[in-house]
Amino acid sequence: MMIKRLLPFVLLASAMSPYAFAAPPALPLDDRQALIETLLERMTLAEKIGQLRLISIGSDMPRERIAEEIAAGRIGATFNSVTRTDNRPMQDAALRSRLGIPIFFAYDVIHGHRTIFPISLALASSWDLEAIALSGRVSAIEASADGLDLTFAPMVDITRDPRWGRTSEGFGEDPYLVSQIAGTLVRTYQGQRLSASDSVMASVKHFALYGAVEGGRDYNVVDMSPQRMHQDYLPPYRAAVDAGAGGVMVALNTVNGMPASANRWLLRDLLRDDWGFRGLNISDHGAIDELLRHGVAPDGRTAARLAIEAGIDLSMHDSLYLQELPGLVERGEVPIELIDQAVGRVLGAKYDLGLFHDPYLRIGKAADDPVEVNAESRLHRDAARQVARDSLVLLENRQQTLPLRKEATIALVGPLADSHVDMLGSWSAAGVAAQTVTLRQGLEAAVGATGQVIHARGANVTDDPRLIEYLNFLNWDRPEVTQDPRPPQAMIDEAVRAAREADVIVAAVGESRGMSHESSSRTSLALPASQQALLEALVATGKPLVVVLMNGRPLQLGWVKEHADAVLETWFSGTEGGHAIADVLLGEHNPSGKLPISFPRSVGQIPTYYNHPRLGRPYVEGRPGNYTSQYFDESNGALYPFGYGLSYTKFELSKPQLSGHKLKRGQNLEVSVTVKNTGERAGATVVQLYLQDLVGSSVRPVKELKRFEKLMLEPGETRLIRFELGESDLKFHDAKLDYVAEPGEFEVQLGLDSRAVISERFELL
Ligand code: NOJ
Repeated sequence: MMIKRLLPFVLLASAMSPYAFAAPPALPLDDRQALIETLLERMTLAEKIGQLRLISIGSDMPRERIAEEIAAGRIGATFNSVTRTDNRPMQDAALRSRLGIPIFFAYDVIHGHRTIFPISLALASSWDLEAIALSGRVSAIEASADGLDLTFAPMVDITRDPRWGRTSEGFGEDPYLVSQIAGTLVRTYQGQRLSASDSVMASVKHFALYGAVEGGRDYNVVDMSPQRMHQDYLPPYRAAVDAGAGGVMVALNTVNGMPASANRWLLRDLLRDDWGFRGLNISDHGAIDELLRHGVAPDGRTAARLAIEAGIDLSMHDSLYLQELPGLVERGEVPIELIDQAVGRVLGAKYDLGLFHDPYLRIGKAADDPVEVNAESRLHRDAARQVARDSLVLLENRQQTLPLRKEATIALVGPLADSHVDMLGSWSAAGVAAQTVTLRQGLEAAVGATGQVIHARGANVTDDPRLIEYLNFLNWDRPEVTQDPRPPQAMIDEAVRAAREADVIVAAVGESRGMSHESSSRTSLALPASQQALLEALVATGKPLVVVLMNGRPLQLGWVKEHADAVLETWFSGTEGGHAIADVLLGEHNPSGKLPISFPRSVGQIPTYYNHPRLGRPYVEGRPGNYTSQYFDESNGALYPFGYGLSYTKFELSKPQLSGHKLKRGQNLEVSVTVKNTGERAGATVVQLYLQDLVGSSVRPVKELKRFEKLMLEPGETRLIRFELGESDLKFHDAKLDYVAEPGEFEVQLGLDSRAVISERFELL
């Protein structure tokens, strides 16, 4: 089989090449470097440039032409085709090209492929690396089974500004937590061996600093001090690179005045020279063209030169490499060595993916193609339900409103209560809305004949025609924000009638999935007016109100906190979302999620990240106008802090014990703490360890997460947790950007969130 598949390399090369009668020797398949060099020797300039093009199936050129272009050696890889039957003819075409170099197939597999897991921000809320690993492995298994080789993930952009629509796509605000997740996902996407048929290459994105766009407005400028970059924003990309990510997708934004796609410092000095990245750099969609609009290139020729000089290997979607690189090389403006390096990295990625040994490694044989790509049997529902349950965050629970009794009559209201498509969240790959379980379905299945669910929609997501038009304009297949044509008051009245007949109200409110997406930045974090009006009418009934939030970013929840009896943050929880949420509402599962991002009280308060640098006049509660850092019209601090989340049980932490109060370099310090479940239910919590460097040569943060552990405890059970800290945990980038641990006092802070902590001190000698 293998030999048959390799034949095209030899046969076609001999039939069409200048050596028609003397076939070139077969490729040295067992030696990566030799294979790359052999191919580079045989390739024409046009074939080399062809390898540098990543083409979107569907939007970049008519489907019929793609096979032709591939066979002509003018395309190196494609994205956006997601079935083996679509990908096979393209691979056939690649093998028909003069040198028979296989192409690879990429896709945005961000939080699941056919089975959709909770959105990334929700995955981070689990603080459970095993659950996240499960989501990554299942994604790789499903994507590779559809003939895909590479995912444009993980997206590890740190974000401190929830106005940014892509907040939903990342893992929150903390460099340590996001780095842990980045490494976990890279390892699980890529599996034990990248060349295994069920592994896909990870391409970490968006390098770099995309989450810091000014004002949270997508594609906006990023301008940042080098210290902040190194301390807060770069670590997750570095963690992905260190975990062996095969690819890096370059950001669309500028980094201190130079677009990332033309930024030699970023892509060469930092990524390649300092970090030692040897993999593939991929530009984001149309980014090389955008160098013209950024105004750093007067014409396409310069844009292509800047990009290849900076280190973009594979160009996504634009045609400037195709049009301009041949002339640039022929005129000696771009040395052929630069092209060879980029082509070498594309070929290297294909080699690492096992495609030279078997171009059909993930596409398989036609006889084995699934009869139905969306067959139920291809889904991993148990895994999705398990992970989704883990990612829900209980924000409020007055008088133990939750869990609900199974016998209860529940009024289930809200525009998101029965919405399949929103359950998917944005970037839901090949997920199918109809295969999701809505909250209504989940709740009805859970209460069965024991209780009753009365459903009323109550409101549209929004009644603002301008917003509806915008949201439906996003590149979905069909309009997603569908309006109930009844007058708003009629819908509210129906919901209120349902509430009056019920013991408790469950209101599913928040955002449509398109509201937290690429190009979906918001100036307001409030619930849309239609939903706020619904909640106010429900509160007026006096019935207990459980607010189930579905949204992709922190919302402004002051009113909800004050008026609801219980609040459960469910984000967009994926294929099994409805079951998972019902499991928590009815107490089948005790919630254990913790926020991976601070929730501000208002937009004006942004940013509210917990690990901010110390101030000369930190906020002190007291008389108005006391000249400490505050807004005089709003309380200080986040409404819900980073790391926060409740449980149906209670936990107590002991005072931390240190193995010593002096730490010598090269040695470790053990921090131990006991956690007790003092409530009546089994439950999981997350013990969080923060550090503060009390005096530094530069200003240091008030605290930084350094370790965490999620653990499950039976009622009354106590567990001793030990964390080891060493010199490397105390290091930071000083004013000269040296990475140092300075002698002096440190405070260890332990807590079940970032705010309520118990501290101890030690000294680094
Ligand atoms: C643009 C987005 O910024 C990026 O995240 C995505 O991977 C590409 N489009 C491909 O879909």
